[in-house]
Amino acid sequence: MKRRKFLTLTGSTIVVAGVTYYLLSDKSNFVRANSKQNETTKIPLKPDEREILLLASLAPSGHNTQPWFIKYTEPYHWIIGNDKTRWLRGVDPTQRETILSIGAFMQNLEYAAGNAGYSCQFDVLASTNQDEHIVDVKLTKAPNVNNYDIEKIKQRRTVRSNYLNDVLEKEDAAYLINGENDFIHYIPNSSKEHQWMNEQTIEANKIQSYRDAAQSELANWIRFSSKDAAKNEDGLTLAGMEIEGIPGWYLRNFYNKADVMKKGFRDQSIDKVVQQVAQSAGWLLIISKDYAVTTLLETGMRLQRLLLKIRDKNIAIHPMTQIIEEAATNQLLNSSIGINEPVQFILRTGYLKNYPEPVSLRRSVDKFIRT
Ligand SMILES: Cc1cc2nc3c(=O)[nH]c(=O)nc-3n(C[C@H](O)[C@H](O)[C@H](O)COP(=O)(O)O)c2cc1C
Repeated sequence: MKRRKFLTLTGSTIVVAGVTYYLLSDKSNFVRANSKQNETTKIPLKPDEREILLLASLAPSGHNTQPWFIKYTEPYHWIIGNDKTRWLRGVDPTQRETILSIGAFMQNLEYAAGNAGYSCQFDVLASTNQDEHIVDVKLTKAPNVNNYDIEKIKQRRTVRSNYLNDVLEKEDAAYLINGENDFIHYIPNSSKEHQWMNEQTIEANKIQSYRDAAQSELANWIRFSSKDAAKNEDGLTLAGMEIEGIPGWYLRNFYNKADVMKKGFRDQSIDKVVQQVAQSAGWLLIISKDYAVTTLLETGMRLQRLLLKIRDKNIAIHPMTQIIEEAATNQLLNSSIGINEPVQFILRTGYLKNYPEPVSLRRSVDKFIRT
């Protein structure tokens, strides 16, 4: 065979092999729109009960663990439970964030029930963050209930990239705080506290990325491949972490848990945080009077009311909780920002030019309901 013909043939074979390999690979990020909500009915839920619970589960949670379950008592009467198999012992050893997330779930549930014509009666059952039964909830048909726009629940999402650096307009800050000055503080990016928050967020992330208990827990909740994402319907997907294009393709096909523990991955996550904190209108803090279960649930509800309002104003919010989670940074927090009460949420905020669609996954209702 002539040398040129041989080279052409080998070249085409390599191209065909490359294209075939690519076509057989995990080609695109698995997103919410790809997941099928399976409707096996192990419990005879009414269609509106199912819809309300599905909407409730669109609440945010740390690492998207979705740490709730529903114990079905009778139609329209449930217990909201605390699923200890989903606790984040590495970053949330007291289950503070678990209870906050369950509070966010309750707020969605209340709004979704309102939209379906029900009022909710919540009775808190838990006295510690570790109790299994958190809240008893009863729905009753009510004529004058708040007709909440559930599109807001469906469209809410955490956004982490491409924040603008404009400070929040006065009226937008007032709209978000909504008179709750005792609970929500805005630290604009022009203030010295903002600088401190940026530096300490980076510092806390450095500490956490090199703390193996926290890093291996993170590894367990990252869903690199589409197969893993589709199977679990929870955790941090690449789409959720906003890793797209060639880096996304590479991670989907070649990365696994062990890679998360390598220096390269830890350092890249820290670099990402450096880039993120450089983009914002500032920080929003949600504080509370104490750490009682009821207070944490109310604080989670307050977070969710805030999150549901921001998309209309093209404002994004990114919880960055590491300062609170790491003892070395947490002990400096209150005195450095001049706040005495417990800080429950640290939220980076900013305007966006383009608001992306929600992509994070949720388990179907049947996976979190039990008798
Ligand atoms: C208590 C709590 C803590 C969180 N901490 C962080 C965080 O430190 N960093 C981060 O990127 N996202 C954080 N999040 C956001 C979640 O990762 C996010 O809600 C989850 O992945 C689901 O995505 P979604 O909000 O787009 O639906 C937190 C959320 C909650 C409720």
